[in-house]
Amino acid sequence: MRIRIYKGRILSFESPSTVNEYRYMVVREDGRILELSNEIPVRKGEVVDYSDYLILPGFIDTHIHLPQFYQRAKINNSLLDWLEKYIFPAEMKFSDSEFARKASKEFFAELLRNGTTTAVVYSSPHKEATEIAFQEAEKSGIRAVIGQVLMDRNGPEELLITPEKATKDIREVASRWHGSDDRLFYAVTPRFAVSCTMELMKRAAQTAKELDLYIQTHLSEQVGEIEVVKQLFPDIPTYTEVYDRAGLLSEKTIVAHAIHLSDYERELLAKRGTKIAHCPSSNFFLHSGVMNLRKQEKFELKISLGSDVAAGPFLSMLEVLRDAYYANAMTPRKAFYLLTMGGAKALGMEDRIGNFEVGKEADFVVLELEPLASINDDIDEILSKLMILGDERNVIATYVRGHALWPQR
Ligand code: GUN
Ligand code: ZN
Repeated sequence: MRIRIYKGRILSFESPSTVNEYRYMVVREDGRILELSNEIPVRKGEVVDYSDYLILPGFIDTHIHLPQFYQRAKINNSLLDWLEKYIFPAEMKFSDSEFARKASKEFFAELLRNGTTTAVVYSSPHKEATEIAFQEAEKSGIRAVIGQVLMDRNGPEELLITPEKATKDIREVASRWHGSDDRLFYAVTPRFAVSCTMELMKRAAQTAKELDLYIQTHLSEQVGEIEVVKQLFPDIPTYTEVYDRAGLLSEKTIVAHAIHLSDYERELLAKRGTKIAHCPSSNFFLHSGVMNLRKQEKFELKISLGSDVAAGPFLSMLEVLRDAYYANAMTPRKAFYLLTMGGAKALGMEDRIGNFEVGKEADFVVLELEPLASINDDIDEILSKLMILGDERNVIATYVRGHALWPQR
């Protein structure tokens, strides 16, 4: 079996405060890490020389919308207005399969160019476009969790689905793709409580449970949105409980934003093992508010990071890190930990990806530091520069499971 030995300044984030450093990473042809060391490895193999570069675990974006790829920078400070004006019309275009294919191809290529090796993706409300998204994700080599957006009210007719059709679509697409190559997975994706009836959410939750699928949705992003949820579900005390009554909150559920929560809601999310995708760039862009990281952590809520394109303007998770820092002061080590291991944990994939350990799969990004920093600088200095000033220009190569996916050869 062919073996490759990557040489570089290799960092692995073990905890929010611990960074391990290596000089060599030995990777087997099937993408597994065989050895990590500071000495020249005993095993023989082809040496890939990244001596002047930093090698980090692949970036994990736990919240992004594929059909919104072309809608970035459409300014508005009302989420509901922004959805109606820009997002719903953009998602309608995905009824055209040719358009959906072109957009999906570009989208995954762009994620890889930005150093993202795993993405948790909202497709459009169309079954065919979701199928196409999976096909293009497969071809690109990226790791992805993808789901068809579900809505059955408060949106344009063309984007609405019945609970019956939703269940049928989920079953059909998930049966083909969930677990494919151990790299692609399905997420049941009710958009948010504003555009879903209780019946739709209940059916979605049941189907997810039955087929052991992921679940993703939006929670408590803006004050105006929360008001509408109160009107739509007058008998349920809080937004979080709406999802809980539907059965949507589980260990395989990722809710995005979760900004305006009561402690009771935090406790409930923690009890259910539900994960939070923190999307600071999006929250600044739409003026949604600032998620209080310390409060979430007080309740032991598990936090990962999301770009939330197109409410978030950046595909580069390095730019999202900068905004995460502006939202909540934290060490660069912690920011990179949330980006890598935080993402892996959100998906229950911490035994497989998220950092470098023997036996794990080699998902990694190769970063050029010049002119921001020099390769031999202090680690925290380098990470701070990348966190505040980094973007896709720093990414010179992206590998998933030991395969170089960007630049394309
Ligand atoms: N809430 C419901 N749908 C969306 C969406 O597409 N983007 C964001 N940011 N919030 C949402
Ligand atoms: Zn979103």
